[in-house]
Amino acid sequence: MAIIFEPNKKIFTLHTKNSTYQIQISKYGHLIHNYYGSKIENMDLSYLIQGINRGFSGSPYEAMAVEDRGYSLDTYPQEYPTYGIGDYRSSCLSVEHEDGSQAAELIYDSYKIYQGKYQLKGLPAVWAKENEAQTLEITLKDKYSDVKVILYYGVLEEFDVITRACTIYNEGEYPIYLNKVFSCCIDFWKNNMEMISFYGRHAMERTLQRRKIEHGKLSVGSTRGTSSHQHNPFVILCEEGVGEDHGVCYGASFVYSGNFIAEAEVDQINHTRFVMGIHPEGFRYYVEPKDCFFAPEVVFVYSDAGMGEMSRKLHDLYRNNLIRSKFMHERRPVLLNNWEATEFDFTQEHLVEIAKAGRELGIELFVMDDGWFGERDHDKAGLGDWFPNKKKLPNGVKGLAEQIHALGMKFGLWIEPEMINEDSELYRNHADWCLSIPNRKPNVERGQLVLDMSRKDVRDYLYDSISKILDEAKVDYVKWDMNRNLSDVWSAKVPSYRQGEVSHRYVLGVYELMERFMSNYPDILWEGCSGGGGRFDAGILYYMPQIWCSDNTDAIERTSIQYGTSFGYPISCMGAHVSAVPNHQTGRSVSLNTRAEVAMAGTFGYEMDLGTLREEEKEIVRSQIQEFKKYYNIIQYGDYYRLTNPLEEEVAIWQFVDKEKKKALVSVVSLRTRANAPFIKVYLKGLKEDSLYRIDDGEEVYRGSALMKAGFHIPVLKGDYSSLHFYIREIEV
Ligand code: DGJ
Repeated sequence: MAIIFEPNKKIFTLHTKNSTYQIQISKYGHLIHNYYGSKIENMDLSYLIQGINRGFSGSPYEAMAVEDRGYSLDTYPQEYPTYGIGDYRSSCLSVEHEDGSQAAELIYDSYKIYQGKYQLKGLPAVWAKENEAQTLEITLKDKYSDVKVILYYGVLEEFDVITRACTIYNEGEYPIYLNKVFSCCIDFWKNNMEMISFYGRHAMERTLQRRKIEHGKLSVGSTRGTSSHQHNPFVILCEEGVGEDHGVCYGASFVYSGNFIAEAEVDQINHTRFVMGIHPEGFRYYVEPKDCFFAPEVVFVYSDAGMGEMSRKLHDLYRNNLIRSKFMHERRPVLLNNWEATEFDFTQEHLVEIAKAGRELGIELFVMDDGWFGERDHDKAGLGDWFPNKKKLPNGVKGLAEQIHALGMKFGLWIEPEMINEDSELYRNHADWCLSIPNRKPNVERGQLVLDMSRKDVRDYLYDSISKILDEAKVDYVKWDMNRNLSDVWSAKVPSYRQGEVSHRYVLGVYELMERFMSNYPDILWEGCSGGGGRFDAGILYYMPQIWCSDNTDAIERTSIQYGTSFGYPISCMGAHVSAVPNHQTGRSVSLNTRAEVAMAGTFGYEMDLGTLREEEKEIVRSQIQEFKKYYNIIQYGDYYRLTNPLEEEVAIWQFVDKEKKKALVSVVSLRTRANAPFIKVYLKGLKEDSLYRIDDGEEVYRGSALMKAGFHIPVLKGDYSSLHFYIREIEV
């Protein structure tokens, strides 16, 4: 049993393969967190919880009545701390009642354990078959009001995953406000912890940063309305010194695409509290009597064998139990996108020429990017007008799609449903459909405003106009872009007391629309995008199997971006393309080989006019596509190992190993060239110790244990940013 309740001890114990999580109901009915860490069986861990009377940390009334001064919500580890009742650390819930008071003292009421995993209405969440997961629901009630909270725990034993979420119910007769609702809290009774987070900016996303958690709050988050380029809603909590292959770490991934916060602090008695949820800034949720609020899910993945193992578990979880697209298990076509080749400036003939040149080299899918609709000749017009620009596409999207299909290729389309330009028919007819505050000029980014996705009429318009195109033309792939952050968040559709809900309702609206499209067009391969990787999160992966990783297609910068991304997300979901040189974003020139080496550690495609290549370069592209297909299974479904850290080392090396450990692919990219360079030795990982392996077509045979323990010298790489890969396969003896 993954979940055990011992009524006499009032203890809930959750076991995964390698971890244990324990909760107790205290003598006063509060839910106390006993432990989360390496597996411990058959043990009541309540002995860890010791109350000492500390000054300025009060006790609940009942405790004080019996002189139990050591029992304090301010020092005890808790499952779901609330604001207003004497715990001064970060709380998870702040409820405002009819009389303006802000407090909730949650007391245990009941529990439920069942096979399978809970789901959350209107929100993405990890899913599981009955035999893959168990759920624990714990119901808590405020001692003095009709606020009820259900905490959800999903236990996916094999993945070492525990998920958390909650619902807040108003069972009273008066409305309440939720000023803050986080999804989870974990109180670790130790203080030697670090938080690893992934910061960035447009075109440089998910750079790893490691900081010690100390006294005072350490937090990352987004108030941009999306998960953002600047901070990713995935963090790692670990003990000091944890590396790729050793040490205890906990990945925490928020399955949500809007504002978020991940916050950690060491409290006055040197214990570490971690909370995660929707960012409270600007958030205020009005809950009518008998209504409720669902807080999104947080996935915790545990490893006591370092961050490499943690990532691989998460990769497996997302590939098998989060992403729903059929393309998770089908080979995705090698793609060619016209954006960097043409931007807005193209004609149908030109696009067909580009596609044809690609087809000759083995490209399977041609994608028409931005610029095909309305008066979209530049970035200040057209968004919202989802009908073809007849100057560019005289026979509509259908006409182009037919030509592309006639070439024997699949056809894909770019859209940006959530946005609107003031210079558009949509804006001229429905100016009130965008987020903006009456009597204020809105903040503008890239010449565009944001549609109010919380409105059903807006979503219906988007669904109808875009699905008209998808029904008329045969579209095999859609890239769903989103090119600005939210500001001036105000909806013409909701009353003043509900304006604090709009950012969250926006995200729910996006999910609702995505769900409608995904379920009605399941054969389309959907790719998420937000100016590259500005909305690269587990929430989007529930709807789309891949996300464009970054607008930065410079292969060298990409080694860091993809390295950072790999900590929390599988390789199979990272959109990665070979683009032209000098690179559009950095001006750097890197060989075609290296550009492909890096793009192959992703979904792989091209983003350039392949017709402009020299004959020998075309030959290289042809063989790259063949190579990618050859290694497809191992890259997309295998285990991923980070062998170096490109942020700190002179060479980026990574490795894929198939699940049977019979094949491996190692990629090497030189980030700095040096004269008379020292050897680069690589220690392979994930092979079978006793098996014999051959490298490429070499004569030599190596034992797995030797490649992993004694290592292997990489041939000296000469020239700027050169690269190579080698293929390792087990030989039968
Ligand atoms: C941002 C995307 O990341 C690019 O790939 C491209 O689609 C542009 N938007 C088009 O506007």
